[in-house]
Amino acid sequence: MTYQVLARKWRPKDFASLVGQEHVVKALTHALEQQRLHHAYLFSGTRGVGKTTLARILTKALNCETGITATPCGQCKICVEIDAARSVDYIEMDAASSRSVDDMSALLERAIYAPVAARFKVYMIDEAHMLTNHAFNAMLKTLEEPPPHLKFILATTDPKKIPVTVLSRCLQFNLKQMPAAQIAAALEKILSAENVRFEPRAVHLLARAANGSMRDALSLTDQAIAYAARDLSVEAIRDMLGAVEQRYLVRLLDAVVEHNGAAILGLGDEMAAHSVSFAQALQDLASLLHQIAWSQYAPDSVPDTEVNGEDIRRFASALPPEDVQLYYQIATIGRSELGLAPDEYAGFTMTLLRMLAFQPVQASRPALLPALKQSSPASRTEANTVAGASPARAALDALNGVRSVDDQAAVKRQQEAERALKQDAFVQALVRDFGATLIPGSVQ
Ligand SMILES: Nc1ncnc2c1ncn2[C@@H]1O[C@H](COP(=O)(O)OP(=O)(O)OP(=O)(O)O)[C@@H](O)[C@H]1O
Ligand SMILES: [Mg+2]
Ligand SMILES: [Zn+2]
Repeated sequence: MTYQVLARKWRPKDFASLVGQEHVVKALTHALEQQRLHHAYLFSGTRGVGKTTLARILTKALNCETGITATPCGQCKICVEIDAARSVDYIEMDAASSRSVDDMSALLERAIYAPVAARFKVYMIDEAHMLTNHAFNAMLKTLEEPPPHLKFILATTDPKKIPVTVLSRCLQFNLKQMPAAQIAAALEKILSAENVRFEPRAVHLLARAANGSMRDALSLTDQAIAYAARDLSVEAIRDMLGAVEQRYLVRLLDAVVEHNGAAILGLGDEMAAHSVSFAQALQDLASLLHQIAWSQYAPDSVPDTEVNGEDIRRFASALPPEDVQLYYQIATIGRSELGLAPDEYAGFTMTLLRMLAFQPVQASRPALLPALKQSSPASRTEANTVAGASPARAALDALNGVRSVDDQAAVKRQQEAERALKQDAFVQALVRDFGATLIPGSVQ
């Protein structure tokens, strides 16, 4: 028997087995149950999130021999033919290759004839945004007053390119990218059914690499099964994905936290010797910081299957949230500037050294803490600003092009200006007679 790729073998055949997209399924189910049928649908969403799949399920729901239903039987001749994409009344057309007004006119000419076997004739126009404006215009009249036997389903990865005149005649559904945890759960089911051994953490790596696309997840899984000889270990999947060894990232972040420049350079050399992609390393570092930040606000957001779970929790409790934000920003900016660097190694190490440069001076922290605890909210703000309690904050502002709050002279000038304003008779009258308030810090 020939091997059928997982994505095709496991294409969901009914609404219930679709992963995610609950909002779309719910709306379509209601409409089908109440027989409130629209004649044109638009499914938008990125690659491999289920647009074509959903179009086929909807077509079965409309045409199943058991009647219009949210749960098509999947057994009747019509259902079977639609699943196999060989029903004469279900026409999938790729707008990327037939995009001209002639193609559209030919399609519309055929559309007036009644369906051969099914209840409705369904045209599924994939990558609809590729149609020319003339083709869209040719379509408009039919979309406005379609013959009762005709349904249109448009699918697109780029809904912004569809004219509003067309959009407004379609019922629009936006399919979402799937979160890694949801993809991982679906993959585990499929792998178990396929009798493939796997470590949950390895599956999680695959799910993350899929970037929200179920098709990509299944293609990667196909590749992994071949690569790892049906035994998906973390080791093997990491190798296959060419993922940056996570230990490097954790050690780098440790070195940053410890303010250990020598260790950072040592690690940079080690990574260069192993030809690690520095762009990928910065991206993964940002991703690690993103997880740390999340874990600070929602500790449950780190799943048990997370490869770096322990380290993420460790950093989350050790680092002030502002520092995490700052490092994240430096990592992403550093990555975007990699092309400007003399070479990738220089760009990478400079980015990490920048994290050191902006690092809060540890000594200032303990000294300041007791003061903060005792002080009132107002004076706390002041202490923060004047004493520069948070160099991380200042560095973030500096990176964003905001005036450095460390600039004590400016702060002082600001306070003087505010004081002068408060003493101004006109201002005092405004405050007294109209209930005006002076907002501290708003005086430029
Ligand atoms: N929501 C989903 N639930 C389960 N599997 C899915 C889902 N979305 C996609 N898949 C899997 O990915 C494969 C491709 O999906 P589909 O053809 O529906 O994607 P698409 O959104 O049309 O992508 P494209 O924009 O590339 O055409 C399916 O055969 C199925 O195995
Ligand atoms: Mg498709
Ligand atoms: Zn059926």
